[in-house]
Amino acid sequence: MTSSRDLDIVLFGATGFTGGLVAGYLAEHAPEGLRWALAGRSLSRLEAVRDSLGSADVELLQADVHDSSSLAALAARARVVITTVGPYLEYGEPLVKACAEAGTDYVDLTGEPEFVDRMFVKYDATARANGARIVHACGFDSIPHDLGAFYTVRELAAGGEISGPLTMKGVVRSNATFSGGTFHSALGQMSRPREMAAASRERRAIEERPVGRRSRAAKPSLGRDRELGYWLLPLPTIDPFIVARSGRALEAYGPAFTYSHFAGTKTLRFAVGGVVGVGALALAMQVPPLRAKLGERVKQGTGPSEGRREKSWFTVDFVAESGGRKIHTKVSGGDPGYTETAKMLAESALCLAFDTLPETAGSVTTAVSMGDALLARLQAAGIRFEVVDAG
Ligand SMILES: NC(=O)c1ccc[n+]([C@@H]2O[C@H](COP(=O)([O-])OP(=O)(O)OC[C@H]3O[C@@H](n4cnc5c(N)ncnc54)[C@H](OP(=O)(O)O)[C@@H]3O)[C@@H](O)[C@H]2O)c1
Repeated sequence: MTSSRDLDIVLFGATGFTGGLVAGYLAEHAPEGLRWALAGRSLSRLEAVRDSLGSADVELLQADVHDSSSLAALAARARVVITTVGPYLEYGEPLVKACAEAGTDYVDLTGEPEFVDRMFVKYDATARANGARIVHACGFDSIPHDLGAFYTVRELAAGGEISGPLTMKGVVRSNATFSGGTFHSALGQMSRPREMAAASRERRAIEERPVGRRSRAAKPSLGRDRELGYWLLPLPTIDPFIVARSGRALEAYGPAFTYSHFAGTKTLRFAVGGVVGVGALALAMQVPPLRAKLGERVKQGTGPSEGRREKSWFTVDFVAESGGRKIHTKVSGGDPGYTETAKMLAESALCLAFDTLPETAGSVTTAVSMGDALLARLQAAGIRFEVVDAG
């Protein structure tokens, strides 16, 4: 990093629902002397956010997704840029480009696979050449899953190494609700299944694979897990792809890693309802008038109240087996979509800015770029990673 960077962290999207929570988290938990700024397209809205932060010493920067010079200027001054400006498929690319070109570390909250694959195809080489770490999915998508799998591998290996095939399942449970921004991002991605598949193919055609090892996301099916006591509903999110990518990059996951991702429900009725509900929503997204109607129902910039968030929780159970050994671990915390997401995103940026980390560049996962350091930060910030049963 060059010394002309006078800001440790810039938060782009501070005026949005999640951005406001990230700003609040940084104001409360930032290390003494953090040099940081809030960025967005309206200075008066940014001033209102800064006023809400009390005495935080924070600069304001005007920047708009549609003004590439404003993004280049922002990326040139920052060591790490956080962005909560989504849907990322619609708004995200110009900032990834600016950070890759400037050699600036970048973290976001996307859960949109097409966006992540497109950014890989277009900017991974530039980011590598310039030493920028582009880390997508630093919120509930996909940190509990990616770092949970990383933690589970470490606990299963117990100081040794995984030398044979390793199978792992992750089972998510939560009572939480979502914001307007997340709803619109999900609608956008569900309406583009063909584009998503095309982006994934383009990525696969150019992405290097490890030699002599493999790591993949399985295509799981609905079933009952007697051990955990849940019905398992396959969860078609970005998470299994991110976990598999970490497995490809990290030798610790052994020679043949397979990960399956599920939502866990107590009753079959919910599991079947979930399959039908997700299927129906995905179909409705193919029909533009239905898509528009659904979009009108949840306004962007809004989200669950503080009271609702305080009552929200999540757990992710991991069960992993290799070489006759088996382990059950659990990651858990409070409101996944916002309170914990803001914490995870802010801690990821602080981790990239200040911690001693493995040398990486280009499009990298949280486990690959930050692994143990981010795990320690999140544990210190109240997200629990624990061994339930070591077999
Ligand atoms: N995966 C996860 O775990 C997770 C969790 C939470 C959120 N998210 C994602 O995070 C994103 C934000 O969610 P949210 O609920 O916070 O959304 P939101 O409240 O609608 O906020 C969107 C932000 O983008 C800004 N923006 C829009 N157009 C812009 C432009 N042309 N230039 C600069 N800024 C612009 C808005 O600024 P103005 O104030 O100027 O309009 C606002 O600050 C969504 O994509 C959502 O899916 C993901």
